[in-house]
Amino acid sequence: MANVPLVVFNNGRSCPVIGLGTWKSKPGEVAQAVKDAIDAGYRHIDCAHIYGNEKEVGEALKTKFLEGVIKREDIFVTSKLWCTFHRPDLVEGALKTTLQNLGLEYLDLYLIHWPQAYKEGGELFPIDDAGKAIPSPVDYLDTWKAMEAQVDKGLTKSIGISNFNKNQVDRVMESARIKPAVIQIEIHPYLNQQKLIDHCKGLGIAITAYSPLGSPDRPWAKPGDPQLLEDPRLKSIADRYSKSVAQVLIRYAVDRGLIVIPKSVTRSRIQQNLDVLDFQLSPEDVELVASLECNGRLCTMGDVHHPDYPFHDEY
Ligand code: A2P
Repeated sequence: MANVPLVVFNNGRSCPVIGLGTWKSKPGEVAQAVKDAIDAGYRHIDCAHIYGNEKEVGEALKTKFLEGVIKREDIFVTSKLWCTFHRPDLVEGALKTTLQNLGLEYLDLYLIHWPQAYKEGGELFPIDDAGKAIPSPVDYLDTWKAMEAQVDKGLTKSIGISNFNKNQVDRVMESARIKPAVIQIEIHPYLNQQKLIDHCKGLGIAITAYSPLGSPDRPWAKPGDPQLLEDPRLKSIADRYSKSVAQVLIRYAVDRGLIVIPKSVTRSRIQQNLDVLDFQLSPEDVELVASLECNGRLCTMGDVHHPDYPFHDEY
């Protein structure tokens, strides 16, 4: 079984550097994927309320607990607070809904999914007549205080943030009683995020790379969009190591000191994506992969008018 290295957080807790992503995994596919992943040796699953599949993830976890394959403390489970639940009085209820869906008594990590708060109480994507997301005036610093309270209550072991830019990270760091353990952001060779990674590492925040394979299954992909997994420059590197492009991308992320959460619902790929610990990219190949940077962000939420939209800043 794969012996996946751990990253140690600023609070002393740790997490396997490779986890299974579940964004875009359909409810009918995700339970089998999680079971296959656990059987393959994954001990880290990345979830979120907005993915709409936490119940099925929970069923898979329950099966593996009952089979005696894993105990609760053997597996690291992350989830994320959705934007319509940022108001401090809503945070505990949102976390408890996720726990109920996952069938767990606590999370290992709970993240604020995006810095933008949306209007509470209705749709998960509230939009006005012009089709624009409707903001809520809640400041994510107040949300953060409510996140800290969840650690005190024992409902999550660690807390963190996702999709925050440098200034937003700094605001949280300045006011936090419990510092974020993790920031989860989009990272792959077309968007290498070196500045934000260096900044967060300097602050002692661990970094998780989402969309590490370029998310070819993102719902808004258009024909003709560049496809990371099909990039001939990566294919020629992968051929030299007798590995797949996906494996090169995952190895590359691990070698950058990142936590990485490739998504797959295909058993052979789930297995393959963990089989990256027996090779190392040469410094020349690392440089080649790094040279693919082209500010190729894939995930923006599109709400550019929101006062807390994170991606107007340089990083
Ligand atoms: P599938 O889930 O059908 O196996 P990301 O993690 O960047 O969001 O990318 C996920 C996408 O990459 C999914 O479409 C997934 O397909 C695909 N994928 C995952 N692992 C591999 C792999 N080893 N080879 C090719 N495609 C992969």
